[in-house]
Amino acid sequence: MSNRTFTMIKPDAVANGHIGAILEKINAAGFRIAALKMTRLSAEKAGEFYAVHKERPFYGELVEFMSSGHIVAAILEKDNAVEDFRKLIGATNPANAEPGTIRKLYAESVGRNAVHGSDSDENAEIEGSFFFSDLEKF
Ligand code: CMP
Repeated sequence: MSNRTFTMIKPDAVANGHIGAILEKINAAGFRIAALKMTRLSAEKAGEFYAVHKERPFYGELVEFMSSGHIVAAILEKDNAVEDFRKLIGATNPANAEPGTIRKLYAESVGRNAVHGSDSDENAEIEGSFFFSDLEKF
């Protein structure tokens, strides 16, 4: 099992001023930040990142939203990182997220849901490498 996951703080949470609060919750939950950057995705890059969802009805909306503003990308390290991080962020739809989770606190809707978290060790590696070179990961 890998001990790393990948996250993005999405344009809604960045625009609403929640970067600091979200990073604080991540630290408080015991994750070490192994890489971090604020950047912006072009529509083309957002489409590439979410290519696995290309056939979904919400794909166009997802790509448009994810390229609508700045995001914060990070690689996080902790034992059982993928699973523990998904618990910390809560369900994809904030309406179904547990109290105290990042999405419950900061997400607006299933599309504008504040944060992304990798769903497997394999995707964590792929997604982290989408944003960070080996030199940037520590
Ligand atoms: P994320 O974990 O980043 O992975 C895929 C994203 O697609 C997901 O979070 C949601 O933000 C988005 N998504 C999933 N279902 C819907 C939906 N029904 N409408 C809009 N966006 C969605």
